[in-house]
Amino acid sequence: MSNNLITVAYLAAIVLFILSLGGLSNQESAKRGNLYGIIGMILALVATAFSAQVTAYSTLAVAVIPAVLIGATVASRVAMTSMPELVAILHSFVGLAAVLVGVGNYLQPDLTLTGVEETIHLIEIYIGVFIGAVTFTGSVVAFGKLRAIISSKPLTLPGRHLFNIALLVATVVLGVFFMQAEGTGGFVPLLAMSAIASVLGIHLVAAIGGADMPVVISMLNSYSGWAAAAAGFMLSNDLLIVTGALVGSSGAILSYIMCRAMNRSFFSVILGGFGQAAGKGGGSSEASGTVSEVNVDETVELLGDAQSVIITPGYGMAVAQAQHAVSEITKLLSDRGVSVRFGIHPVAGRLPGHMNVLLAEANVPYDIVLEMDEINEDFSETDVVLVIGANDTVNPSAMEDPASPIAGMPVLEVWKARNVVVMKRSMGSGYAGVGNPLFYKDNTQMLFGDAKTNCNAILGRLQETSAAPALATA
Ligand code: TAP
Repeated sequence: MSNNLITVAYLAAIVLFILSLGGLSNQESAKRGNLYGIIGMILALVATAFSAQVTAYSTLAVAVIPAVLIGATVASRVAMTSMPELVAILHSFVGLAAVLVGVGNYLQPDLTLTGVEETIHLIEIYIGVFIGAVTFTGSVVAFGKLRAIISSKPLTLPGRHLFNIALLVATVVLGVFFMQAEGTGGFVPLLAMSAIASVLGIHLVAAIGGADMPVVISMLNSYSGWAAAAAGFMLSNDLLIVTGALVGSSGAILSYIMCRAMNRSFFSVILGGFGQAAGKGGGSSEASGTVSEVNVDETVELLGDAQSVIITPGYGMAVAQAQHAVSEITKLLSDRGVSVRFGIHPVAGRLPGHMNVLLAEANVPYDIVLEMDEINEDFSETDVVLVIGANDTVNPSAMEDPASPIAGMPVLEVWKARNVVVMKRSMGSGYAGVGNPLFYKDNTQMLFGDAKTNCNAILGRLQETSAAPALATA
């Protein structure tokens, strides 16, 4: 393929990637955005494979064909609830690739580079390997935490900030040795820095508590983008530079948006330690009081009397796979003239947009699925709120208890409604490990059990009561 043709293909791929990002920002256009991304990536891969630099096709086939098969199989089998784990481990591959590209590039130097160009190239390699190593080990730890192989509690070593600073200082000192070395004499400082950056990656993510994992995932997404961009500089590949920058900046923006949604500063998140009190048992947020229980029939009665209903789903709805029953309940109530809407917290579930994806899959109309900010003021005028498998995202202690580990995090203010029915299996806490005073409020009633079983039972009772008048008139 001629260089001009490759440049045109790369430009088309870049445009498709930008259109893809634009499409993914909205539920209606998300499928289209995904398709643009897939076409852009196929174009990029084909153009690169047919470029003049690539000649070893048999080696490429040995690497690419199994990778495509493994990737497609794993991605098609993964449950929605395990998606963050998959994303985390995929980020680690990008980080590892950046390290390997950097080391390979250093050991096989481009002899045409001299003077400033050579210096810049060496800096690119050093920074690329550093970001890659931090991304690699950080992502592996994030994967371990999400998979519960590693405890989700933050690891807060004494003097941990000093330790991080010492690692950074050692990186800079080794960088000086690396830059001054002749030929490939900087290999040892490069390897030593990789080891230090790997420890930094482990320590940075280990210090972050479970409740901040969404931000960590998008932060690692951003790092993996910058690692790819650095690899693009090393390989002089413009497409990789632009794609890496797109991933890096969009990941950084997403991290910022999430931090704002949790009312936390980005630096307090990446410096870690949050959620420790929760991990030790909740501190002052340990909730207590009298709990009132409700059964399926009583819930159906409440719904029968309601004019307005808001459903706030959370992680438990995803685990139970209750979204189809929830969608049917919504349809039935709407047909009876009840106003039914959904309130979605930005970090409900285990990945950004988790609830939106499930509800879209169950054909819930987009226009009744509202963001937290759009619906929070309406709870006080709502007859019934159904909290389905949500916990942290509806926890009033975030607003009422300054000592709570989740203090300051904006939450869905469900307790302002006339009646709240919380569907979950027990009085257990959610992801952040914090007690929830919502369960003890006078207007709250607990409907214990699996969300899907209970939603199906509610649906069955609603269908019976809908059919009853029809039978009576027949
Ligand atoms: P959580 O606070 O995690 O609570 C989920 C609740 O679902 C649990 O308390 C559990 O209670 C219940 N549950 C589990 N299985 C169930 C089932 N089969 N049927 C009924 N209930 C079930 O959920 P949330 O309100 O969605 O909050 C999300 C949390 O995850 C936040 O802390 C957030 O920071 C964190 N997080 C979010 C993300 C993203 S990006 N969204 C990523 C990682 C972490 P029982 O055990 O009593 O049933």
